[in-house]
Amino acid sequence: MGWKSLDDIDLDGKVVLTRVDINVPVEGGKVTDATRIERIAPTIQDILAKGGKPVLLAHFGRPKGKVVPEMSLRVTLPALEEVLGQKILFAEDCVGPAAEAAVKDLPDGGILLLENTRFHAGEEKNDPDFAKALAAIGDVYCNDAFSAAHRAHASTEGIARLLPSCAGRLMQAELSALEKALGKPERPVVAVVGGAKVSTKLELLGNLIDRVDSIVIGGGMANTFLAAQGIDVGKSLCEHDMTGTAKEIMAKAEAANCALILPDDVVVAGEFKAGAAAETVAANACPPDKMILDAGPAATERVKEVFAGARTLVWNGPLGAFEIPPFNAATDAAALAAAELTRAGKLLSVAGGGDTVAALNASGAAESFTYVSTAGGAFLEWLEGKTLPGVAVLESA
Ligand code: 3PG
Ligand code: MG
Repeated sequence: MGWKSLDDIDLDGKVVLTRVDINVPVEGGKVTDATRIERIAPTIQDILAKGGKPVLLAHFGRPKGKVVPEMSLRVTLPALEEVLGQKILFAEDCVGPAAEAAVKDLPDGGILLLENTRFHAGEEKNDPDFAKALAAIGDVYCNDAFSAAHRAHASTEGIARLLPSCAGRLMQAELSALEKALGKPERPVVAVVGGAKVSTKLELLGNLIDRVDSIVIGGGMANTFLAAQGIDVGKSLCEHDMTGTAKEIMAKAEAANCALILPDDVVVAGEFKAGAAAETVAANACPPDKMILDAGPAATERVKEVFAGARTLVWNGPLGAFEIPPFNAATDAAALAAAELTRAGKLLSVAGGGDTVAALNASGAAESFTYVSTAGGAFLEWLEGKTLPGVAVLESA
């Protein structure tokens, strides 16, 4: 951990360009989940307490280098004001005269949000001139956007080369949780890897096999592993062209002494619909006209036993099609078991990824997990063992 924190740089009277990730869900002009906003509050408050002037840099959506009015960060102002308990000033542009004037007018104790960095093509290109234009507005750079750190963009990477730079509190918390879970974890370590497709989780499985003691495979990707064992999965979601790869993963896991845990029983239905008639069958007995939509009760018990024998849990991806009940049953029961073990001090549990967090929130398990990441793609890339450019640049600063 070679990076500096807010405690290592003098912030008094300084304009602190603070990269945050407030790429939050919005419906009908309103923020529907303010979690990411709540999680950056400590950083902004610490900067203020140290006499600094927080100027927030952020992206919103994917406007691809053009001004797209529907992707203005203005929509986040009410939620920011509610969480931070004060008026938030706003500038129509993140660089140039509008930004400079707003910074000049920012009173002590004030907070300024700059418009979407992705309205400029230089942002995603990590264009050095655009990074310079961003850096020109402030004195210090603080990156608190772990969830955007897998992007080498001007506001996440280029700018850190130009200003004294540090990690914000949320960035610190994310990195330290991940370090505890996979860097130097207490063993045994169990990973839950779920999701629709094996093809999107190949690198993840490849990295985890060498680092954890067991992997619970859930969601649609479990069907591909079942098919690789010659099991007929009926109408289930399954990547039949990936069964060869699934076999290779199984062989690699065996060689590395990592147990791959597939469901012994499954919940099947004729269609993926609320209220569809569901039944539990053995994993090798899916009727030809049905599809597997969740792990069954025996499989869930087995997962709970593995959790009970573990000291560390890393979770990415649900066990079933949790969006529609009753196919949330396995995910919920396993998550609640992990939450209970965590509360009892027996398990360190870390989860991340959009779907995962939605599932853990829905079951009420999230609040008892040791750490729930705000990151989707960045969490996955970290678990894959990749270097995150936004973190690496802070380490070399
Ligand atoms: C996210 O919401 O996962 C981050 O803000 C990154 O957004 P992106 O995938 O558009 O880069
Ligand atoms: Mg994303």
